Amino acid sequence: MTILGVETSCDDTGIAIIEGKGKPWPRFRILSNIVASQIEIHKKYGGVYPHMAKREHIVNLPITLKAALKKAKLTEKNPGIDAISITYGPGLSPCLWTGINFAQELAKKWHVPLIPVDHMEGHLLVGLFTGTKKQAQFPAIVLLVSGGHTQLMLMKNIGKYELLGETRDDAAGEAFDKTARILGLSYPGGPKLEKEAALAKTPLDISLPRPMMQSYDFDFSFSGLKTAVLYDYQKRTKKVQKSKQYVRGMAKEIQQAIIDVLIKKTLRAQEQYRTKSVILGGGVCENKELRSQLAGKLKKENIPLFLPLKSLAGDNGVMPALVGYFLYQKKKYPKNPESIVANPNLQLD
Ligand code: KG4
Ligand code: ZN
Repeated sequence: MTILGVETSCDDTGIAIIEGKGKPWPRFRILSNIVASQIEIHKKYGGVYPHMAKREHIVNLPITLKAALKKAKLTEKNPGIDAISITYGPGLSPCLWTGINFAQELAKKWHVPLIPVDHMEGHLLVGLFTGTKKQAQFPAIVLLVSGGHTQLMLMKNIGKYELLGETRDDAAGEAFDKTARILGLSYPGGPKLEKEAALAKTPLDISLPRPMMQSYDFDFSFSGLKTAVLYDYQKRTKKVQKSKQYVRGMAKEIQQAIIDVLIKKTLRAQEQYRTKSVILGGGVCENKELRSQLAGKLKKENIPLFLPLKSLAGDNGVMPALVGYFLYQKKKYPKNPESIVANPNLQLD
């Protein structure tokens, strides 16, 4: 079947068309995947303003749709698409509504079902299906790390998830963004901080806290790390604050502190629940060090790791399209597309 996914939960307008085939483990072909980023706009303000993001989605959605259809060699009048899926949460309410209203119109025009999907399940399935053609073995431990979420889940099958733990304050991506901002790096801080960290030559004589790393639950906390970075930064002279050695050394230590906590808890969850694989998803898993350090640790234990293609780690339309595929197979979608409403605090559990 062919499915079109629409994603507008935060600051990326994503539309993708994918084709899925095969049972019980389907294979997917991405016919097109277009993402209109708003980074240049939000960079000026150091973060995403929901109403500004909504205005951009309104402008970008029709352009993104045209480009996605063209790339897939389909026409807008009669595209031959079986269903549309739309992210209805979690995310920023005005942004979610913009995507929902757009997708409702489209579903009406094409006379196809509209399937509401969870953004975090999208990150998860991109991790499971895009980096490899291997079939996952369940149960699996899932680590989802994005700008708004940090969650460890036990996955029993596609569509069957149990939340084991999550962040009590900042998400991992937020920790990257906020500490990068202290160091004077622009939004979004994660990729910038990774670049600076890779350039560090001599390690700084500073050891940042690894919050909750030794606790026996599966929760996270990253706000203390941000405070520790701020205190250290404020102690330094203006000259040191601006020096390459300080910024790069600090970036490396921040990145490692976040990675250490994420990996430790993921491995402990894998061990405790004796899962057969680990799946990583969310924008933060674009981070090369996180990918390679976790892969290295799991390889030693002979546990397969499922990672998204790096280009699909951040928000995109393939995410809702993949989730929509499985819900369509199970006929789990409302009869009336007009009944779909945004749920900014949607929980995948
Ligand atoms: O999943 P995503 O694209 O959007 C949300 O759903 O939040 O995640 C965005 C987050 C941002 O906080 C961004 O800084 C972080 O992912 N991120 C990274 C990297 N690339 C993106 N964090 C660390 N290293 C990266 N290379
Ligand atoms: Zn996301």
